[in-house]
Amino acid sequence: MQEINSPQQPSQKRPRLLALFAVTLVAILLLLILPALTKQPVVLTMLMQAQDITNWKPFVKEFEQKNPDIRINLIEGPFDTNLIENLYTSAFLLGESPYDIINMDIVWVPKFAAAGWVRDLTDRIPPKQLSKFIPGNVEGGRYRGKLYRIPHASDAGMLYYRKDILEQAGIPVPKTFEEMVKISQNLQKQGKATWGYLWQGKQYEGVSAMFVEVLSGFGGFWANPQTFEVGLDKPEAIKAVEFLKNTIASGISPPGVTTYGEEETRLLFQNGKALFLRNWPYVWKLATAEGSNVRGKIAIEPMLSSTGQTGGSCLGGWGWGIAKTSKHPEQAWKAIKYLTSEETQRKFILETGLVPSYKSLFTNKEVVAKYPHYPQLLKVVERPALRPPLAQYAQASDILQRYLSSAFTGRMSAEEAMKAAASETRNLLGSFKQPKAS
Ligand code: GLC
Repeated sequence: MQEINSPQQPSQKRPRLLALFAVTLVAILLLLILPALTKQPVVLTMLMQAQDITNWKPFVKEFEQKNPDIRINLIEGPFDTNLIENLYTSAFLLGESPYDIINMDIVWVPKFAAAGWVRDLTDRIPPKQLSKFIPGNVEGGRYRGKLYRIPHASDAGMLYYRKDILEQAGIPVPKTFEEMVKISQNLQKQGKATWGYLWQGKQYEGVSAMFVEVLSGFGGFWANPQTFEVGLDKPEAIKAVEFLKNTIASGISPPGVTTYGEEETRLLFQNGKALFLRNWPYVWKLATAEGSNVRGKIAIEPMLSSTGQTGGSCLGGWGWGIAKTSKHPEQAWKAIKYLTSEETQRKFILETGLVPSYKSLFTNKEVVAKYPHYPQLLKVVERPALRPPLAQYAQASDILQRYLSSAFTGRMSAEEAMKAAASETRNLLGSFKQPKAS
């Protein structure tokens, strides 16, 4: 049968036109909305020590919730500061660093800034805001007058001691290295403790940090960052090395300290095996936690010095900068601003027991209620012994670490080691033609 080709009626045309209109409208709307719906958030990458990631994760999540267009990809790194520094250094040397936010130890800033790896943040933060931080932490973020790092935590070496054992024995807290040695020998003899004093003697950055405290405690100095004068072979420095060697020779410190970093010494102290420990504030929360053998039995003091000297605690600490190669500096700054705000830090400190970089938080009511030792900690961080802020710091520290290790393990005498360390440091700094101050 043949189909009859009848012309379309206007009433049949209308639904088709309407359908076409609807399809076009949907297409236009999709074109407009889809990009917004499928827009990927900017991803910032940040490398941190594993223990820092655990502490910071909740606050990073909080930032992401408030800023859904930004994601922070946290990459877990090793514990040792040197190992993290190596990871950053090789990434920067290769060119396109995968990291946007750089978590910097206070001693890396001159090197990273001099190499042009991190951005100048000077104009991003008003001086008034900056003045709320511990001055040493801010200074540690500067290089040649410009600011490259915003401090998110302070750190200072301190003396942990067994309050319970000292109190039972009716012995006051030592104020000098010499008193500590006597107390240790005395209580070790009585069988009150296996070891007297634990310190970090492994060949790594931690040994340099520990040594500046003993060095300044004996009235010595490492290197002057202005004049490049080197003090490592001065009698005070040799005495400082001899003091540490003697703690091993006399059985106050275990021979193993020559291979111990922060964690090994913390674990030994936490097991209840020693009277005194030199370490950073992160130990407090762990050593006083449930399950620790020394919970409720310890207290802290500022670092000791030799009789008649003042000494000081080594200023450590971490802060954030932005990689020169980051493609998202504005988003990175937004994250840094949020994570280093006083409010975030207050919550962070209450949660972790780490040391603030804001002065006000050391005496904040809520913080002190939880950590009664914080006002004292403020005095510690305000009286620091500094590792010299040199652009060549990594090499200078490497020289010191090698010779300290030789001295501690008996391969060299204190004098031989320090003479060699001083001479290599002079060669290093001499090749950088810094004018001598007159
Ligand atoms: C801590 C300090 C840091 C130091 C390191 C040494 O992390 O904050 O400044 O370099 O210990 O191990």
